[in-house]
Amino acid sequence: MTEIKGLILSGGSGTRLRPITHTYAKQLVPVANKPVLFYGIEALVEAGVTDIGIIIAPHTGDEVREAVGDGSVFGAKVTYIEQAEPAGLAHAVLTAEDFLDGSSFVMYLGDNLLRDGVPGLVERFRAETPDAMILLTRVEDPTAFGVAELDEGRVVHLVEKPENPPSDMALVGVYLFSPAIFDAAKRLEPSERGELEITEAIQTLIDDGHEVRSEVVTGWWKDTGQLADMLEANRLVLDDIVTRLDGTIEDSRVEGRVIVEEGAVLRNSVVRGPAVIGRGAVVDGAYIGPYTSIGDGVRVLNSEIEHSILLSGSSVENLGARIEASLLGREVRVTRSDSLPKTMRLLVGDRAEIEIV
Ligand code: TTP
Repeated sequence: MTEIKGLILSGGSGTRLRPITHTYAKQLVPVANKPVLFYGIEALVEAGVTDIGIIIAPHTGDEVREAVGDGSVFGAKVTYIEQAEPAGLAHAVLTAEDFLDGSSFVMYLGDNLLRDGVPGLVERFRAETPDAMILLTRVEDPTAFGVAELDEGRVVHLVEKPENPPSDMALVGVYLFSPAIFDAAKRLEPSERGELEITEAIQTLIDDGHEVRSEVVTGWWKDTGQLADMLEANRLVLDDIVTRLDGTIEDSRVEGRVIVEEGAVLRNSVVRGPAVIGRGAVVDGAYIGPYTSIGDGVRVLNSEIEHSILLSGSSVENLGARIEASLLGREVRVTRSDSLPKTMRLLVGDRAEIEIV
């Protein structure tokens, strides 16, 4: 069987998710309390791809290394490849040339989530051996995506964020390539935004007469590069959880599908799932509403939270109002001293301290 390697892109600058990304890799932001990146690694392993290179950026690479290790817990062998600058997806491919060493490979954007993974796609690529294969999904507003023009499943043209989209089929962050992609990527010039664009490399393959095929995603796909999408991914993943109550539950009501991890304590609270409460978290006098992920060691006291993600070690106390559609970084503290704003929308970086007056 042809060896297919994996290449997961976990570098980039993550400007759309600042300030979280000032101090943290966006690929490590947890969705249902598991880093986004882990879903990608699991998807590749499930598809039988276990020799995986992970592209890392200089300022967040160490924490990615620490979180993933040598890959053995995932059943993979992981090699880290540092990309000095976030110079584009095709640049990341070129940076990985030594690791890929002439193999075909699946490239997976480390901040993307696909409900059904990639096994069918990898299998088809192995069987049909085209030069490249891209994954597509129908979107409402194609002007915000890379868009493919198709002729009976064959890709004839790709355009990045078109003003007049040729179709509503947008590129999803998973690609399969034969080594032919290197020759195409090496001939690229930086785009207007200064990046070597993978869509242009694929277009070059098409122009050179190579066979580029496509497959339409089954199940949902999410790019978690910005807050609303991260929360939406959290919602979609939580929709599939199965109740497991391993923590301590005192004088509380737990409704719907909820995971309470070992060492977590719920006291005088209502948790309405789908929701997950991490290890060592303390929820007291609180309401945790649907689509909320409470990280390890988080404290929620006398407050209400829904449709939000709280990273480990953060605390929300005595708010007297409901937080919704928010992402709190690690060790963020939100406390209330006075007055009563009815709802809050927050995107707060790690270790910030907020006092609402
Ligand atoms: P993007 O989300 O397109 O880019 P970005 O991370 O720079 O974010 P922003 O646009 O908000 O500034 O990247 C998709 C994935 O690919 C993501 O996991 C980061 C990764 N990536 C790299 O590893 N190297 C790169 O040069 C680029 C551009 C992205």
